[in-house]
Amino acid sequence: MTRIQHIRFDAMQPIRFPEKLVSGKTPHMLRSHGPTATVSGIRMASRSTELSASPPRRAARDGVPDPWNRKLIGSKFRLLPFLEEAIVARAGARVETLLEPFAGTGALACHLLRRGIAQRAILVDLLACNATILRGCLGPGRLQPGSRELHAIAAELDALPPRPGYATRVWGDRYFTARNAARIDAIRDEIERRREAGELGERAHALLVGALLLAADGVANTVGQYDAFLKHLGGPCYDERGRHLVDGKAKAALRLRLPRIEEERRVEVATGDAVALAPELPVADVAYLDPPYNQRQYCDNYHVLESIARWEKPPVRGVTAKFDRTGLRSDWSRKRLAAGALEALLARARVRRWVFLSYSSEGIIPAETIEAILARHGEVEVLEHDYRVFGNGAGRSRDRRVTERLYALRLAPDRGEA
Ligand SMILES: C[S@@+](CC[C@H](N)C(=O)[O-])C[C@H]1O[C@@H](n2cnc3c(N)ncnc32)[C@H](O)[C@@H]1O
Repeated sequence: MTRIQHIRFDAMQPIRFPEKLVSGKTPHMLRSHGPTATVSGIRMASRSTELSASPPRRAARDGVPDPWNRKLIGSKFRLLPFLEEAIVARAGARVETLLEPFAGTGALACHLLRRGIAQRAILVDLLACNATILRGCLGPGRLQPGSRELHAIAAELDALPPRPGYATRVWGDRYFTARNAARIDAIRDEIERRREAGELGERAHALLVGALLLAADGVANTVGQYDAFLKHLGGPCYDERGRHLVDGKAKAALRLRLPRIEEERRVEVATGDAVALAPELPVADVAYLDPPYNQRQYCDNYHVLESIARWEKPPVRGVTAKFDRTGLRSDWSRKRLAAGALEALLARARVRRWVFLSYSSEGIIPAETIEAILARHGEVEVLEHDYRVFGNGAGRSRDRRVTERLYALRLAPDRGEA
């Protein structure tokens, strides 16, 4: 029998994490509020949570970029405490293998690995830019050469003079200053040359490309995504009336730094479609699904980073200089296909115990459809919390609030595996 239970935090007190989960750092607190609600006509003890304190989105204290602490639309960085609590309360404080098939920044997997909760992680993302950063920082495989030599190589790459090429031609004075674009050209070509010369193993190559992706993203003339760039890159940052024209960061010199490297983690990273890859991935006991929930394609929003990662130098079209992204469009961002993709993923994924799904109340798959699909595989709970949309996702209002749902699906033991 299927029981769908919605849970809402009604207590006004802040929720603290159990001491045993707190390893060194103080966890961020959650504050709960709001009346009990009824969703989809089912009586619920439903749950609405708001993060009262945002985790810092800034460089780590030692200045080394953390791969998971970067701007990505839909990143769950701010929701890590909520997710950790929800997962640990259900799946336990030890997860042997975590599958994250929409890894993005990999924030949750990195967090659970660092907390000693996840012992191993399998990460998938359709975009090579996301997968490359994760592969470089987390593995699998040893760094060849080792990290000391790679720091020296990164410094050499950072010292290369600008050399105008593809990046300068297609993105110069648009997404980057001409000088930064010419530095991207010089560095990216040199990374490829070193790989071809046999100086870099696969993971070291990914680490250096990932470092360049993070560095380029840090000086991009955008509001955090690449569906458009800000005009006036050559002019002042503000007009005479004090209006913001260009972000000062876009004018800063690109600086290549190796991101934080996790040497010992047992992590596998795959680039590709989650549904297509699902049957080939190792068996996981817990999966965390965080698919796109609207019709904005990630490949449109991150085409520049994707192109730097792939470095195939394809022709581009239009003012926004996009390459042909056929094959990178996600079914999860197509209204007609999204529900079918969820059905297919659940049927194919090799997961034993729990599936957690994050999905916005504004998503293109209706809540009732999601519940019906999940309920075929086991018992479903729905946790809700208010979520402040910011940056690109915010549209007109930077402070718009939406309800993000976390569906917790306890898989039926007789469900079987694909
Ligand atoms: C909402 S974001 C995930 C954010 C992530 N949880 C984080 O905290 O950074 C969705 C991710 O799914 C990826 N994606 C979209 N369609 C996909 C597909 N069919 N298979 C695998 N990944 C996909 C996107 O590239 C994007 O990185």
